[in-house]
Amino acid sequence: MLLHTIKEVQEQVKQWKKEGLSVGLVPTMGALHNGHLSLIKKSVEMCDRTVVSVFVNPIQFCPGEDLDKYPRTLEQDTKLCEQANVDIVFAPTPAQMYGENQMRTNDFLTYVIPPFFYVNKLCGKSRIGHFDGVCTVVNKLFNIVQPDFAFFGEKDAQQLAIIKKMVKDLNIPVEIISCPIVREESGLALSSRNKYLSQEDKIHALALSKILNNIKSCYKKGITNTSALKETAYGFLNEHHELEYLEFTDNTTLEPVESATDNTRVFIACKVGGVRLIDNIFLG
Ligand code: PAJ
Repeated sequence: MLLHTIKEVQEQVKQWKKEGLSVGLVPTMGALHNGHLSLIKKSVEMCDRTVVSVFVNPIQFCPGEDLDKYPRTLEQDTKLCEQANVDIVFAPTPAQMYGENQMRTNDFLTYVIPPFFYVNKLCGKSRIGHFDGVCTVVNKLFNIVQPDFAFFGEKDAQQLAIIKKMVKDLNIPVEIISCPIVREESGLALSSRNKYLSQEDKIHALALSKILNNIKSCYKKGITNTSALKETAYGFLNEHHELEYLEFTDNTTLEPVESATDNTRVFIACKVGGVRLIDNIFLG
């Protein structure tokens, strides 16, 4: 069932709650691929009812980012959700979520701001305000859908850590379920933004997963010094790559680490053909 208004979703959820049914939420920005579908499948397996939100959230895009050209494929997304036995696809308009003032949200909207320590690194460094927008919309979706479980991908591991922290700090009554990264056979992590890559760019994009896999195998061989592990990346990079960061942090706290352990996650962001790609790997 495709619903566009908050009221309709709330009424349906209220009915489910009366019947004692558990509710799963999968927040997305649409252009669904097998990465999203793995989250959806897990929710359908675990919960009596599943809501998938499809909303390109304007307040998490920074000036100059791809808000206008972000792929919007609602018809196809709805079909995929139906095939996956999703109960509600919630596709609100920006005005439905933020009111008619949404173009001036900074002045008029109450935001949920994650702690500085979690956003002063990795993607937070270049995407100023991005995680404020993510936390605000996810918090709104939690309030609207009141899910028992919500599903997020490790593909966006900084986002996942920040959302877990928000849920803990604000005592939000939802259990966050993290789901592994789904990749193409080549190793490329699935992303809605892969649509922007040319065939040639796609080959250059493999450097990200290659760098991460190589770092993990060096770690398994006993190299723990993160500077030494970082050095191993350069052999995979050439003029087609614009490396933004390659960082090692604690998986839960996102604290930078100098010596890698089984609880370290390695994060990479790199532009290929002008497209900003991210990937990560857990060393444990
Ligand atoms: P979006 O990029 O559409 O991703 C929705 C969810 O799918 C996120 O939890 C993301 O980590 C997960 N996902 C994307 N690619 C994946 C892959 N290859 N393997 C596993 N999971 C994958 O992330 C967002 O939207 C937004 O920030 C959102 C949370 C919806 C808030 O607007």
